[in-house]
Amino acid sequence: MTARIIGTGSCLPEAIVTNDYLSTIMDTSDEWISSRTGIKERHLVKEETTASLSLEAGRRALAEAGVAPEELDMIIVGTLTGDYITPSTACEVQAGLGAVNAVAFDINAACAGFLFSLHTVNAYIQCGMCRTALLIGAETLSRIMDWGDRSTCVLFGDGAGAAVVQAQEGGLIAYDQGSDGEKGKYLACRNRTNNNPLVQTEKNYSYTQMDGQEVYKFAVTYVPNSIHKVLEKAGLQPEDIKYYLLHQANLRIIQAVAKRLKISLDRFPISLDHCGNVSAASVPILLDDVNRKGMLQKGDKIILSGFGGGLTWGTCLIEW
Ligand code: ACO
Repeated sequence: MTARIIGTGSCLPEAIVTNDYLSTIMDTSDEWISSRTGIKERHLVKEETTASLSLEAGRRALAEAGVAPEELDMIIVGTLTGDYITPSTACEVQAGLGAVNAVAFDINAACAGFLFSLHTVNAYIQCGMCRTALLIGAETLSRIMDWGDRSTCVLFGDGAGAAVVQAQEGGLIAYDQGSDGEKGKYLACRNRTNNNPLVQTEKNYSYTQMDGQEVYKFAVTYVPNSIHKVLEKAGLQPEDIKYYLLHQANLRIIQAVAKRLKISLDRFPISLDHCGNVSAASVPILLDDVNRKGMLQKGDKIILSGFGGGLTWGTCLIEW
């Protein structure tokens, strides 16, 4: 038995922020942002929270799967922007759904968070500790951006995506994941202060900082390698895959990965044009987009891949 996805859902905040709007509040332009990243607009929270977006995405995934909240025995939320240090977003979702039989916890693996959650639940399923689970990737990244740093804040958005998985034959066929903490400095948010009376720390720089070129080099090297490893484990070739659903960091990264795999860009669906980079939420939002557009048939083989802060990466091959 492995984890098979049986329903998807997503939820984006109501407010849409276009590149043109950003150009009225900072020195940037639609031309600069869209030509370098492919992003045209993103959704940002006003009233919504990481938990409220997660809850709605989760409800939609459960409705599509035809699963009642009481049937869930696990809820995992991949996020780096939970509303609180504790309780976790997953516990908030559990309470909101009334999923009284579920164990709930968050995973922080930045943009690989949804993949790490899927691989974790797969391990629980394989050892018989879980049968039906709700996985969510959710972020309110707008809260941790420096809106005076145009080279970073224009890239990101807020939102949540979800998938219901169940222990079945098939499903998750092969996976690869990894971390490189030495490179963590290239994409960091050191937003914690020490409240200990014995330690007088200065307030840390509390926003997201990124070395874009180092992150680009990491992504275009590690992601194709990770995909090749997964294909090799499954005994498949790149052309056997119907769609590659990659973390939506940047169109240039996706184009470079497609080129390295020698696969047409048509097999790489895109949501970053209207969502921006939503970190852990990117992959499940894109999966829900593709699913709801009717682009997936039973038996299709799909690669999911997330990569980012940590640095971390996770790739898996699933059968729909
Ligand atoms: N609008 C206008 N000008 C800008 C903006 C902006 N929003 N941001 C930066 N600039 C300017 C800079 O000030 C600089 O000007 P200067 O030459 O006068 O000094 C110039 O544009 C070039 O800046 P760079 O930072 O060198 O821009 P670069 O061409 O490297 O593009 C980008 C930046 C798009 C982030 C690129 O590095 C990249 O694609 N990186 C990949 C990493 C990525 O996508 N990260 C996303 C998050 S990480 C993740 O999810 C894995």
